[in-house]
Amino acid sequence: ARRVGSKKEKTLAMIKPDAVPKMGSIMESITETGFTITRAKMVLLSRAEAMDFYSEHQAKSFFNDLINFMTSGPIVAMEVIGDNAVSGWRKLLGPTNCSVARSETPQSIRARFGTDGTKNAAHGSDSIASAARELEFFFPSSGGRGPKNTAQFTQC
Ligand code: PPS
Repeated sequence: ARRVGSKKEKTLAMIKPDAVPKMGSIMESITETGFTITRAKMVLLSRAEAMDFYSEHQAKSFFNDLINFMTSGPIVAMEVIGDNAVSGWRKLLGPTNCSVARSETPQSIRARFGTDGTKNAAHGSDSIASAARELEFFFPSSGGRGPKNTAQFTQC
């Protein structure tokens, strides 16, 4: 039975290039927390795709570093479902900066698998609305799953 006040949600979890070698441990943390991974895709993002995904940050000073990093190797995009999955996955991730994560939340994904403020292991949607947009980005509903699903990304 679900807890009172909990809501079944979908979110987008993305393992960043630095943590792809640790994807098994990260997936295990997600499922041990009680969430279900319902889709997963390993892709190499083009610069244009990464800039589109992170378009809300285009004016930020770190934007170019972020795009360089996110296109430096394959990422793994996952649809994660569970009670309060949007905030729950963000909580499991820990603070954006991994040094902060190591001092504040040593069991978090970023504390365990990340390096710093750029190489920070993974991403999580920050709201229900972003989750819908980000899931559509990686798992387009119009795409189907047969041969008509023309590759939007370089699949690894
Ligand atoms: S903000 O300004 O509060 O909205 O930014 P923040 O939420 O901290 O970060 C937004 C995303 O940008 C990434 N980020 C960085 N990437 C590379 N280099 C630097 N210096 C940097 N600073 C922030 C941060 O990890 C967030 O990415 P996601 O994938 O959303 O976690």
